[in-house]
Amino acid sequence: MLSVGVIGLGYVGTSTAACFARKMKVVGLDADDSKAKSLNAGSTDLEEKALSSLLRHGLARGCLTFTSDYDDLVGAEILFLTVGTPSLISGGIDLSQIKSATSALGAVIHETDGYPVVVVKSTVVPGTTRKVVREILEKSSRKKAGVKFGVCSNPEFLQEGSAIRDTLHPDRIVLGSDDTRSARVLRHFYRCFYGKSVPEIVETDLDTAELIKYASNAFLATKVSFINLMGRVCEKLPRSNVGDVAHAMGLDPRIGRLFLEAGPGFGGSCFPKDTKALIAYANGLHVDVSLLRAVDRINETQPSHLLSLAEKGLGRLVGNTVAVLGLSFKSGTKDIRESRALKIIEILIQKGARLRIYDSKALEDVRKILGSSATYCKSALDCISGSDLSVIMNAEPEFKKLKPDDFLRLMKRPAVLDARRIYNPDDFKGRVPLFSVGQSGHVR
Ligand code: UDX
Repeated sequence: MLSVGVIGLGYVGTSTAACFARKMKVVGLDADDSKAKSLNAGSTDLEEKALSSLLRHGLARGCLTFTSDYDDLVGAEILFLTVGTPSLISGGIDLSQIKSATSALGAVIHETDGYPVVVVKSTVVPGTTRKVVREILEKSSRKKAGVKFGVCSNPEFLQEGSAIRDTLHPDRIVLGSDDTRSARVLRHFYRCFYGKSVPEIVETDLDTAELIKYASNAFLATKVSFINLMGRVCEKLPRSNVGDVAHAMGLDPRIGRLFLEAGPGFGGSCFPKDTKALIAYANGLHVDVSLLRAVDRINETQPSHLLSLAEKGLGRLVGNTVAVLGLSFKSGTKDIRESRALKIIEILIQKGARLRIYDSKALEDVRKILGSSATYCKSALDCISGSDLSVIMNAEPEFKKLKPDDFLRLMKRPAVLDARRIYNPDDFKGRVPLFSVGQSGHVR
């Protein structure tokens, strides 16, 4: 059984460690000792289908342990680096976690015989593994890369909410390396892990592998901003709706139907950060990044654009009570990083609206940010009660169940802004004003 280490136990690290432990011996490490301790007890606050059961299985079989002590990684054949790379104000990425983890890994490599391979899964701009990671490792291990240890880039494409499925059934594996031995070790690892169902392994150099991750995320982000732009066009046409446009576009296999859902813009820990990082990186290479700047600008302005749809119909929102339903960056998660709902709330506060907010999972995390600026509600029905406008930010089943009658019965002045297009305008016609993203006018 191959033995591996996974360093950094956020979404990617915890899911990766739990999946690999099905067939490998895995030590997961996080600098936060309390996180390692609770994972050792089988507990995680990540909301991922099948994650808890995989953790319990791995721990029970003795194939999975968690630690905060780098000494516990000595002897591991492959060391996956999954620490975070948050945004800097400049749009670039903060490499401090990469640097401190890499420097600690140097001591592990110093003590490990054979040819341990450090695999960078964290999202880093091209050149980071080759220049920063490799250099720090060589310095702190006092060994030569490509001779005594290896380095690979192996970006991760998992989505929150389907992290386990995506890890167990990836579309592709991108394997970047600058030496054949490192690539051989990682290729062997994945062939052992996936067996007959191994996906296509795209082998390339370190920098290209790093770029593939940014290119993939920026392309998907471009699709989302593109359809949001088409939505803005549809809103100006008397009978158009962006759903029909997206559906017909998606039937063309060259375009594809996924990531064409108009909405409040993209959020989460990757798209906004990675688009900005690619802009900063490519701009530094004197490449014209106006395409990506437009993607980012459409996304940054989408929350205020949405509110303007409601304001055109209802007038100014000052003094109005606005119910915001759905606070996480997409449905099915409690993650509020770069959530568009928080952006909308920020604008609503500036406009002098009173806020009632609800999310079945993310409410407590939002309370830590907003404090007494909002009223926190127990359910969707509670949230819309007494309000002048209901803003639907996520496509949660609980929100889909709401009927025009519910809005009529409970709201003070019924009106709905549907940022996810979950309601059929025909159901609302003549009853409750409905403003849907990517659709002209409003229905009375
Ligand atoms: C994303 C990438 O999909 C994944 O490959 C990468 O590893 C990490 O970043 P994730 O952040 O989990 O995954 O979210 P994703 O499901 O891709 O959605 C990102 C954002 O785009 C969300 O805010 C979502 O609501 C929005 N989105 C997505 C749309 O507005 N419309 C769409 O059609 C698709």
